[in-house]
Amino acid sequence: MRIAVIGTGYVGLVTGVALSEIGHAVTCIDIDPKKVEKLNHGEPTIYEPGLQELMLKNMEAHRLSFTSKHETGLEGAQVVYIAVGTPRRPDGSANLDYVEQAARDIAGNLSRPAIVVIKSTVPVGTNDHIKRLINSAAKDGIQVEIASNPEFLREGSAVEDTFNGDRIVIGTESPAAADVLEEVNRPFGIPVLKTDLASSEMIKYASNAFLATKISFINEIANICEKLGANVDEVATGMGMDRRIGSSFLKAGIGYGGSCFPKDTNALVQLAGNHHHDFNLLKSVIEVNNHQQVLLIEKMLARFGSLKEKRIAVLGLAFKPNTDDLRESPALVMIPKLVELGADVIAYDPIAVKNARKVLSAPVAYTENVGEALRGADCVLIITDWPAVKKMDLSTYSRTMNHPVVFDGRNCYSLDEVSRSKIEYYSIGRPSHI
Ligand code: UGA
Repeated sequence: MRIAVIGTGYVGLVTGVALSEIGHAVTCIDIDPKKVEKLNHGEPTIYEPGLQELMLKNMEAHRLSFTSKHETGLEGAQVVYIAVGTPRRPDGSANLDYVEQAARDIAGNLSRPAIVVIKSTVPVGTNDHIKRLINSAAKDGIQVEIASNPEFLREGSAVEDTFNGDRIVIGTESPAAADVLEEVNRPFGIPVLKTDLASSEMIKYASNAFLATKISFINEIANICEKLGANVDEVATGMGMDRRIGSSFLKAGIGYGGSCFPKDTNALVQLAGNHHHDFNLLKSVIEVNNHQQVLLIEKMLARFGSLKEKRIAVLGLAFKPNTDDLRESPALVMIPKLVELGADVIAYDPIAVKNARKVLSAPVAYTENVGEALRGADCVLIITDWPAVKKMDLSTYSRTMNHPVVFDGRNCYSLDEVSRSKIEYYSIGRPSHI
C-alpha cells in the first residue's frame, strides 16, 4: 500500500517508520525543510529508543522517505495519515490550525481518491469537519473518505507500544474504508476495534482522561496515607491485585505531565462544557494534579523554615524517564517556585538539559552528572525517576552531602532501603525517615 504521513513529530514519525517496517511504501511529509533534511540523513528529530535503527533499515530498503513537498509526498497515496500537533489553546480547547492546514494541503495536492486518517487527538466532530473541508476544496472533484485512528503510544516506549499495542481503533463512516485500514494494520497482529467516527474520537479522550484520573486518585490516597501513617505503595499494590482495578497507573508522585494528559483532560472539560455538560470529576482530576506539584515544596518549607540560599539539587527535568521532553513537566512549575523562594538550584538530567535551557528562564545551573549536582547541596528534590537516580546506592547521598535530606517526588526507593541508610527522607504518601 502507498501511504503518506503528514507531520513528523512523535506520532507521525513513529507511525511512518512502523508502517514501513510492516511492508508499506511510506512517505513522511513535514513543512519544516530542516527537519526533513535531518530525517533524510537518517537522524530522527525526536529521541525514542529503537527508532533510528528501524528508520535506517527501512530507508535503505526504499520503503521510507521524507519530503517537505506535499505534491511529491502525496503522489499515488492510497491512505494519508494526518499526525500533526493539536496544542492547547489558552482556554483549554484543542487548537486545530495544523490539522486544518494539513487538510488544505491534501485538498490542493491529492491526485487520486484516498482515505484520510486522522491520528492527531482531535475533539469529537473534527473528522467530519475535515472531510468536508477537503472534499469542498479538492481539485478535479477528487473525493476522500475520512477515518479516525487515534494513537495510544507513550513517549519513551513509542516503538515498543506501536508493535505491542492493546488495540487499534478505527472509526469510519463506511465499512469499506474500515476494511482497507484493517488490512493496512493486519501485520501488526493487534486486535482491531471498528467503530463510528465520533466514538473513535471519544475513545482517545476518554482513555487519557481515565488514566489521568487513576493518577490523581492514587495521589489523593497518598495524601491521606501521609496523614494516617499508611504506605501508598502498599495500598496501590493491594488495589492493583484486583483485576477490575489493574495495577498500572497507580504510582503516586508529583503528578502527571507531558504533552498529552494535561492537554487532553483540559480539552475534554472544554468540549463537555461546549455541550452544556459540567465535567466536574475531570476538573477535580486536573486540580489535584496541579496541587500535587506544590505539596512537596510545602514539605521542604516545613523542614527548612526557609529555602533562601539553600542549595538544592534537582534530579530530573523531563516529565518522565527515557525522554528529553519537558512539556508540562512538573520541573517547569517546581524549579521557578524554588528560585522564587530564594533557593540556589542545580538541576541534573541525562538528556533534557538542552531543552531545559530553552524553556526555563529561571537562573539555574545545569549538569548531566548526578554527582556534580549533589556536591555541596543542602537537599535533593527528585522530579524524574531516571534509572540513574533509582539505581543509585543511597550511600552516594551520604558520601557526597554533609547532611543528606532527600525529597523524593517519585518514590524511587523502598522504605527498607532508606531505613538502612543515613539519609533523611521524605516521599509521597509514605512515612518519612528522619
Ligand atoms: C500518554 C498515554 O499513556 C498514551 O497511551 C497516549 O497515547 C499518550 O499519552 C498520548 O495521548 O499521546 P505519555 O504522555 O507519553 O502517554 O506518558 P505516560 O507514560 O502515560 O505518563 C504520563 C505522565 O503520568 C508522566 O508524567 C508520568 O510520570 C505520570 N504517571 C504515570 C504517574 O504519575 N503515575 C503513574 O502511575 C503513571
